[in-house]
Amino acid sequence: MKNFKRYTVTTALPYANGPLHIGHIAGVYVPADIYVRYLRAAGKDVLFIGGSDEHGVPITIKARKEGVSPQDIVDKYHNIIKNTFTRLGISFDIYSRTSLPVHHKTASDFFRTLYDKGKFIEKTTAQYYDEEAGQFLADRYITGTCPHCGNEKAYGDQCESCGTSLNATDLINPRSVLSGHPPVMKDTKHWFLPLDTYEPWLRQWILEEHKEWKPNVYGQCKSWLDQGLQPRAVTRDLDWGVKVPLEGTDGKVLYVWFDAPIGYISASKDWSEQTGKDWTPYWKDNESKLVHFIGKDNIVFHCIIFPAMLHAEGSFIVPENVPANEFLNLEGDKISTSRNWAVWVHEYLDELPGREDVLRYVLTANAPETKDNDFTWKDFQARNNNELLAIFGNFVNRTLVLTHKYFGGKVPAITTLTPEDKATLDELAALPGKIANHIENYRFRDGLTEMMNMARLGNKYLTENEPWKIFATQPERVQTVINISLQIAANLSIVAAPFIPFTADKMTNMLNLGPFTWADAGRNNLLPDNHPLNPPAFLFTKVEDDIIQSQIDKLHKAKAENVFKNASVAPIKDDITYEDFTRLDLRTGTIITAEKVAKTKKLLKLTIDTGIDKRTVVSGIAEYYTPEEVIGKQVCVVANLAPRNIKGVDSKGMILMAEDADGKLVFVSPAVNTINGATVK
Ligand code: 2FM
Ligand code: ZN
Repeated sequence: MKNFKRYTVTTALPYANGPLHIGHIAGVYVPADIYVRYLRAAGKDVLFIGGSDEHGVPITIKARKEGVSPQDIVDKYHNIIKNTFTRLGISFDIYSRTSLPVHHKTASDFFRTLYDKGKFIEKTTAQYYDEEAGQFLADRYITGTCPHCGNEKAYGDQCESCGTSLNATDLINPRSVLSGHPPVMKDTKHWFLPLDTYEPWLRQWILEEHKEWKPNVYGQCKSWLDQGLQPRAVTRDLDWGVKVPLEGTDGKVLYVWFDAPIGYISASKDWSEQTGKDWTPYWKDNESKLVHFIGKDNIVFHCIIFPAMLHAEGSFIVPENVPANEFLNLEGDKISTSRNWAVWVHEYLDELPGREDVLRYVLTANAPETKDNDFTWKDFQARNNNELLAIFGNFVNRTLVLTHKYFGGKVPAITTLTPEDKATLDELAALPGKIANHIENYRFRDGLTEMMNMARLGNKYLTENEPWKIFATQPERVQTVINISLQIAANLSIVAAPFIPFTADKMTNMLNLGPFTWADAGRNNLLPDNHPLNPPAFLFTKVEDDIIQSQIDKLHKAKAENVFKNASVAPIKDDITYEDFTRLDLRTGTIITAEKVAKTKKLLKLTIDTGIDKRTVVSGIAEYYTPEEVIGKQVCVVANLAPRNIKGVDSKGMILMAEDADGKLVFVSPAVNTINGATVK
């Protein structure tokens, strides 16, 4: 493996429009921090980069909703996010932000360089435009009916009901979110990066020269490349972002995914300005190893688009590795900001103070390295109580307490080593290398397991030798046992530091340890004879059931409240007259039979007793209700809807349903049962 002179380690810049949840942390920031802390301990020169991604349409939408400026939004969340990282011990050298002038200049210059080199294609395309608002509409600013599932609130880029990615022009009945009116098509000019041009280079660079990339990353790249790359627009019609640095481009900015990765370079410049150190070798010297830590949704941007940009620019290095992770689920369900199904890290830090390392530990142990993984509070409790407390904490605490009890808090000298002692020391010596190997290859879970194996080794050694039983009769033997236990604890403080740095710091203090590097780990003489220790304190405390239960309750409560708070609501339709309304004949009726319509997924054929007749109504509720569930239900019926033939069934009328926040249809029924045929007015 090539030996690099320095490391440039980046972490995906989170959008500054919401706080961080455990999924972000598990997938990107904790693994990156482990990697960087290890590298630093191994004496490497590292620049560890983070920052907020402060552009893009969702930020402007949030600002509009809250009636504030996009800058207000990003200021608020940048601070919350930055603070959360600090509290969790994510040890960035710089946490920058893309709204800074240094970033605007860097991104703008980057674009200009590519433009001057003739690397872009200019294209005029027709895009939706809101005449009333006087602006082009980003895909998220257009809603309409999904052509696939009929959801009337699909967005121009995606239908959240059926999950299909859409083009704004696919929507039926498109409407502008700004004015509520149908948009018109209007020509607009944009700049495209012809990714297809870079395909041969990308194929060679990724598929041939980086076969060692994680299978999930390599596989995704291969699939993109095999499908064939298309030119990608790198500008947008929007007033929030980095202005396009060309004449006559008012109202145009760089696409957020063009400027955001350049943010890593701007952050490095920001670091230079703050420290007086030179950023250029980290980005321009071939002996620097560039590694991007990201989640799987960012793979194409970091493995294909950004490298193509860097390659086109010509003066930068390209990533050596992109160890992207899969996603973390929560209690068996996808983490979702909009459904408020998340553990927010700043809240965790407030509610479980002093347990920063427990979260780091649990998220590493469950890291979604090769497949999606699950976080549960019960597992959190078990890992704290049965692993951190019962093994790690117990070993360190017993060792220190016994040293104080028998030897006045000073390291006792070894008397004689038994073959078992030697075997233990051999095992100890082998572990740091194994851990390092895992970390260097982005296998942080395996690294953590080996780190815990060191604690297990110590715990087992102490338990097998039972110094508390033999001190009266064999004090010399106890000297050796305690010395070895202390050497294991000292080693543990070195190898645990990348994973659980707060704990490692406490251990260093208690052991009164000198500054050791990774190269010292494995030694059996880190603590000299007679070395004085400081008083012991507990490293971990038990997580009781009530803490776990209150977190679980909180999750469910937040989700339930959110159903009402965040439901997205379709715009009001054009006015109708009272006469229009009276033409509708709405009645109560009871479902008396129900069966699935053959060969359809969504339709139920219902017989409804309307009090006047018994009629067939076909309803699209089969995804949410079984026939048995709906029989006997009293509902509201549009009784004078002209008959229609739906999938071979004559349907007369329609039953009224409302959508809940998850898109599930729920019945609109009388609050108390009434007669069938009552007029709804
Ligand atoms: O997916 C995201 O959250 C993006 N804000 C990540 C950007 S990474 C980099 F390009 F800045
Ligand atoms: Zn749909």
